Amino acid sequence: MNRAAHSLLAYCRPGFESECAQELAARDAALATGGFARSVRDSGFVEFVLADRVAADTFAGEVRLRDLCFSRQLLRVIGRVEDLPKADRLARLLPLIRERGRRFCDAWIESPDSDAARELAGLCRSLNNALIAVMKRESLLDAKSPWRLHVCLTDAQTAFVAEADVAHASPWQGGIPRLRFPSSAPSRSTLKLEEALVTLLDADERDAWLRPGMSAVDLGAAPGGWTWQLVRRSMKVTAVDNGPMDASLMDSGYVTHLREDGFRYRPPSAVDWLVCDMVEQPRRVAARMAEWLAGGWCRYAVFNLKLPMKKRYDEVQLCRARVAEDMSNAGQRMDWRARQLYHDREEITVFVRAICAA
Ligand SMILES: C[S@@+](CC[C@H](N)C(=O)[O-])C[C@H]1O[C@@H](n2cnc3c(N)ncnc32)[C@H](O)[C@@H]1O
Repeated sequence: MNRAAHSLLAYCRPGFESECAQELAARDAALATGGFARSVRDSGFVEFVLADRVAADTFAGEVRLRDLCFSRQLLRVIGRVEDLPKADRLARLLPLIRERGRRFCDAWIESPDSDAARELAGLCRSLNNALIAVMKRESLLDAKSPWRLHVCLTDAQTAFVAEADVAHASPWQGGIPRLRFPSSAPSRSTLKLEEALVTLLDADERDAWLRPGMSAVDLGAAPGGWTWQLVRRSMKVTAVDNGPMDASLMDSGYVTHLREDGFRYRPPSAVDWLVCDMVEQPRRVAARMAEWLAGGWCRYAVFNLKLPMKKRYDEVQLCRARVAEDMSNAGQRMDWRARQLYHDREEITVFVRAICAA
């Protein structure tokens, strides 16, 4: 059965559906688009239903994945099918795709990140190959199209058929970048900073803002996974932590290790980057980041906010407001980008860039 499709589909970390829904609801309230969320805990996705087609167009045009923290991918739903026959699932999906009346640059069949849906990976792969073959045959694929088709199997009988505006969507299936752990990195945490840099910055920004010879401070650096990412880009890093740093990273000659308190350390002169992975209360970390950014001690910051058990969305808003207020008082605007990354658990990762207000 195809329900009327005035909705968007967001993928999120399983267990964070209510934060994902809250964030979408806040945007909906600001836009007065009359929506509501449908979600099931631990499913790894939220369907956000808008009042009508006009409201869905407005919401989809205004709400960008880049501005969301708890969504990994944001798709416009074309339709939903609840009774896919085991013998020929494509036969029930194809009419929706044809009726949409547009060509797509690609077609992905994927499943949410939940334990149950992950078992559908094999089915997604085989259906995807068959779907691509049919779409080629029917001229429904065009590499130049700005739209990508997404089929999200939520179980073996149920699928959302949706589309993404490629310019604004995550470029990875399920919204998850597949990153390989670099064998010389000292800790798996390195993947968190790598994911933050590829998710929160675009390629031009990475080239411009992460240049060889730049300086950085890493608060809570040991054993050095985040420092490793900066050293890899030939940046000079002051690593602040009472714990030991990885010996081969220290041998690189790019790292100065200071056994000091990351909540007290102050750089002798301004640096380009501050990164911070100290396990502390989020408000305390936010206040510390605000001090650095408002004080002009760094231009760019990436930091982790460990979320509390309850009111996690509200906590993020409080932290954001704190950084914004301190920076505003110092005559600065902020470019804030936050995401609960695939490599984040009960936490989010934030990038902030200080912009001098004119
Ligand atoms: C999650 S680990 C950091 C892992 C690191 N980012 C990596 O990639 O290897 C947190 C670190 O914060 C450090 N830490 C916690 N409180 C600190 C403080 N007040 N000052 C300095 N370091 C602190 C701990 O010693 C620990 O090494």
